[in-house]
Amino acid sequence: MNALAAAPVLNAPTGFDAARYRRDFPILRQRVNGKPLAYLDNAATAQKPVAVIEALDRYYRDCNANIHRGAHRLSERATAAYESAREKIRRYLNADSVAEIIFTRGATEGINLVAQTWGRRNLKRGDEIVISEMEHHSNIVPWQMLREETGATLKVIPINDAGEIVMEEYERLLKGRVRLVAVAHISNALGTVNPIRAMIEKAQAVGALTLIDGAQSMPHTRVDMRALGCDFFVFSGHKMFAPTGIGVLYGRQALLEAMPPYQGGGDMIKMVSFKKTLYNNPPYKFEAGTPNIAGAIGLGAAVDYLEQMDFDALAAYERELLDYAAAAASQVPGLRLIGAARDKAGVLSFVLQGAHAHDVGTVLDSEGVAIRAGHHCAMPVMERFKVAATGRASFAFYNTRAEVDALIAGIEKAKRIFHC
Ligand code: ALA
Repeated sequence: MNALAAAPVLNAPTGFDAARYRRDFPILRQRVNGKPLAYLDNAATAQKPVAVIEALDRYYRDCNANIHRGAHRLSERATAAYESAREKIRRYLNADSVAEIIFTRGATEGINLVAQTWGRRNLKRGDEIVISEMEHHSNIVPWQMLREETGATLKVIPINDAGEIVMEEYERLLKGRVRLVAVAHISNALGTVNPIRAMIEKAQAVGALTLIDGAQSMPHTRVDMRALGCDFFVFSGHKMFAPTGIGVLYGRQALLEAMPPYQGGGDMIKMVSFKKTLYNNPPYKFEAGTPNIAGAIGLGAAVDYLEQMDFDALAAYERELLDYAAAAASQVPGLRLIGAARDKAGVLSFVLQGAHAHDVGTVLDSEGVAIRAGHHCAMPVMERFKVAATGRASFAFYNTRAEVDALIAGIEKAKRIFHC
């Protein structure tokens, strides 16, 4: 047993009542393999509070209908609920207008949308896109696809041994013909919190646009579009306690107006004839076809749920939990932590000498502890740290020290099983 395992299971006081919020998540009450579930795979997807589950239930029971189309009461109700979710998200992000809030399937679709519309329209051979070495594949591959189509060049900001952006290298890269900087707010594989405000300012100084991948930051922090000043910001609902299949692309209105549509279909047009089609205004220009109406409403409910929280207290609580986990894990012989950034949130990535991450994950599952094992869709990060895969425990505000203790005990068990 690690030395910290005997510590009280309650977290140190941070002013955040995690126990109260935890009760809102019914799925967390179950046992897995006879053990209390310790759900530590929140970076993959977060669990849903009753408020979100009930919003979906109410929508399907009371007002399911297509939006912006029907001449009947249910359609009016569904449209009002969908558009009211958009307004909630606008307010939550402090965006200027609902025209800037485009519903997507998630962060991945948001990035692809920007690449295929703004990118194809504006980039030419020799133009540069800057990303970082810690990006998720969804913030690498769409730019590679764009590179193939346009001849643009992809430049990569290196990260140091702690898993932090090397700012001097970033500044050096900005001396080129940079048109866009696209970086994660928080790394899904390392938990590094990037200094995005400073990075945005530096990009603006050379006239480059910025896209921030907020998939991992939305469950841990509040963001303010006016204060950040980025041009695009993407995130997925399911990582911030909303349903899967819904996300948001925030884009500055003037840019969205100048961008061509992403997909053609219903709702994205003002008028269609065989000769000519007039496109709708943003956000509708980018929402072809029947959207994920229930998902948007569920995302609105998740935003309502998060609005009641004190995010400073939440961040302090999560930081304390992560520090507790890191301190306990670092006492396990043969365990190496991957990612030691000064500013970190939500993620504890590790390798256990002599055991494959997937095997460790299986042992942990037998103890009721859910983690992710693998490359986390961030293969360049694995290459940077010269590992094939890591085990990744990722936290949300409803996790507890008792769950961290179960994680550490499970890792100790894996060590015994694999004699490492
Ligand atoms: N991007 C998600 C993760 O990091 C799925 O697990």
